[in-house]
Amino acid sequence: MTIRAVVAGVGHYLPERVVPNTAFEKTLDTTDEWIRARSGIERRHFAAEGQTTSDMAARAAEAAIADAGLTADDVDAIVVATSTADLTFPSAATMVQAQLGMTGGFAFDVQAVCAGFVYALSNANALILSGQARRVLVIGAETFSRIMDWTDRSTCVLFGDGAGALLLEAQDGAGTPDDRGILSTDLNSDGRHKDLLYVDGGVSTGTTGHLRMQGNQVFRHAVEKLAATANTAMERAGVTAQQVDWIVPHQANIRIIQGTAKKLGLPMENVVVTVQDHGNTSAASIPLALSVGRDRGQIKPGDLIVTEAIGGGLAWGAVVLRW
Ligand code: UT7
Repeated sequence: MTIRAVVAGVGHYLPERVVPNTAFEKTLDTTDEWIRARSGIERRHFAAEGQTTSDMAARAAEAAIADAGLTADDVDAIVVATSTADLTFPSAATMVQAQLGMTGGFAFDVQAVCAGFVYALSNANALILSGQARRVLVIGAETFSRIMDWTDRSTCVLFGDGAGALLLEAQDGAGTPDDRGILSTDLNSDGRHKDLLYVDGGVSTGTTGHLRMQGNQVFRHAVEKLAATANTAMERAGVTAQQVDWIVPHQANIRIIQGTAKKLGLPMENVVVTVQDHGNTSAASIPLALSVGRDRGQIKPGDLIVTEAIGGGLAWGAVVLRW
């Protein structure tokens, strides 16, 4: 017998306000055609004034808890992947804990930017496998609209806000790739690439700052590193790409998504794509895609899924799980 961290529930939240690419044509030297062709993005959601990362995370968490047929009292731990927590501290996760009405358990944030959700999943898996928690809410939530430089056309058209959540539960498995749950994880970072993608504010500057990105340089790293980490995770899980039902990638750019799928030898029919509707929601993009993919009827119980992501750090990684 092996313990496995199995997905017992999934949910997401998207803020009401939807902004199409054409909205940027009024204030920037850009076009809907450029944004679609270079990124695949058509629209994104932006949080309302006063609406925070922890608010959206809590809504996604409630949906995942309800999907599992459980209550917040059944949850032992909350891990929130975010780079846009409401405050410098406390963590967004403890704010979610309070919003859910939980008075027990423990909660903390994981900060690995766009790779945050795979880092959070890996940490939550370790908590479950080591017996420190039986049920863990793993949430990706971001309000990147708060760190955009609205005069920088090379970044502000790419990002969006939202939240997605999985409720992981300890279940017995046979220790084979046929088990449901997380089968393997692979995490990587290389801090030498800080200048490719960072926020020019924080405690050291006394400001919140704005996102700065050398997009084409990040792009150069993306496909190769994403395919490599996905292959490593699949090898660890004892599965091959041919057995994979769905790649659920970080949704930054359709060209990166297509390039990675091609490198893995999988057709786009096996890829969950939401980038056109959400833009790049950083750590929220994978749980949003998992939840939307489930709601669309794409992801079904028993499906073999590979998630992969790369972002600021650089930090990147992959998780193989059976739904
Ligand atoms: O999620 C975290 C990780 N991030 C990513 O994975 C993002 C990775 N990078 C990308 O997705 C792409 O690099 C971008 C979508 C950001 C940009 O696409 P690109 O094909 O790499 O374009 P580029 O940055 O090389 O820019 C090409 C041209 C430039 O003009 P010149 O120098 O060729 O005259 C840019 O100034 O496009 C220009 N440009 C724009 N034009 C119209 C940049 N942004 C815009 C814009 N509208 N919004």
